[in-house]
Amino acid sequence: MKRIAVLTSGGDAPGMNAAIRAVTRTAIDGGMDVMGVHEGYQGLIADDMAFLARRDVGGIMQAGGTMLGSARCPEFETLAGREVAVRNMEQHGVEALVVIGGNGSQTGSYVLSQMGFPVVGVASTIDNDLEGSDVTIGVDSAINVALEAIDRLKVTAESHRRAFLVEVMGRHCGYVALMAGIAGGAEVVVIPEQEVSPENVAQQLRAAYDRGKQHAMVVVAEGAKNNAERLVEHFQTDPEATGFRLRVTILGHVQRGANPTAADRLLGTRLGEGAVRALQAGQTGVLAGLRGNRVVTTPLEEIVGRQKPIDLELFELASIMAR
Ligand code: F6P
Repeated sequence: MKRIAVLTSGGDAPGMNAAIRAVTRTAIDGGMDVMGVHEGYQGLIADDMAFLARRDVGGIMQAGGTMLGSARCPEFETLAGREVAVRNMEQHGVEALVVIGGNGSQTGSYVLSQMGFPVVGVASTIDNDLEGSDVTIGVDSAINVALEAIDRLKVTAESHRRAFLVEVMGRHCGYVALMAGIAGGAEVVVIPEQEVSPENVAQQLRAAYDRGKQHAMVVVAEGAKNNAERLVEHFQTDPEATGFRLRVTILGHVQRGANPTAADRLLGTRLGEGAVRALQAGQTGVLAGLRGNRVVTTPLEEIVGRQKPIDLELFELASIMAR
């Protein structure tokens, strides 16, 4: 194999740059050329790609986001769009593609590999909802941003004897909320995998208040049925229910833009290298991920359309710690 391309797709995740750097330098080390595709699958269709040299990927590892740009690309979901993408890569002599991204992006990888074009995915999403990797690039940084916000809000919660409701990202997955909730000492964690009613949240807050807690923290996953908006709606109808005066913070995209933590830089580097090694070994249609602290590959067909379950024992742990 003489030439590969690399792209980042879907939501940007801290650590993507480390993965781009690792793909580029591992491939060049193995005697290959590397083309960086701009703005994900959109760039493949628009034929927007350029060679990456070792130096082009220097000084990027500590930066959040992705130096290649990213996009969500509905056109790639059509056969016509994908055919243009493959034709463009072939015209550049690109023989294989590395896709750094999350669930939707790896569905794109799978479909492309089913068309006969060699693709290897790299597990990257702040949601950590992708099968095939215990952790995905970006999730550690996103949890740390959420945690910093929780710690700061706690200061105000303590000073004003309030309860704070913090909503974090994660799409349909509660991983970020659960981990930030445990690490941030939340009184209540609300996640889609273990739905609780607003009445139940109020009861837990009330119980904390009655135990003498002078402030409280509720961490809510955006994907929960009772997300921040729904909970606030409920608490407005019965402001006395919790015992606390309540304030709400929705963190949103602020969680994606962090400088990557050491863990995400290392993960990006290891998985980027792993993807190129997989291609060199003749693998295609697989995802490079981390399992039991080892870089492994998993067939994309075992991953697409699925959501990695979270460990509900950790949910139990969160509630024991809150008592
Ligand atoms: O998948 C990453 C993520 O940040 C989710 O947590 C969130 O639901 C979604 O992307 C937001 O997407 P967008 O940036 O397109 O608004």
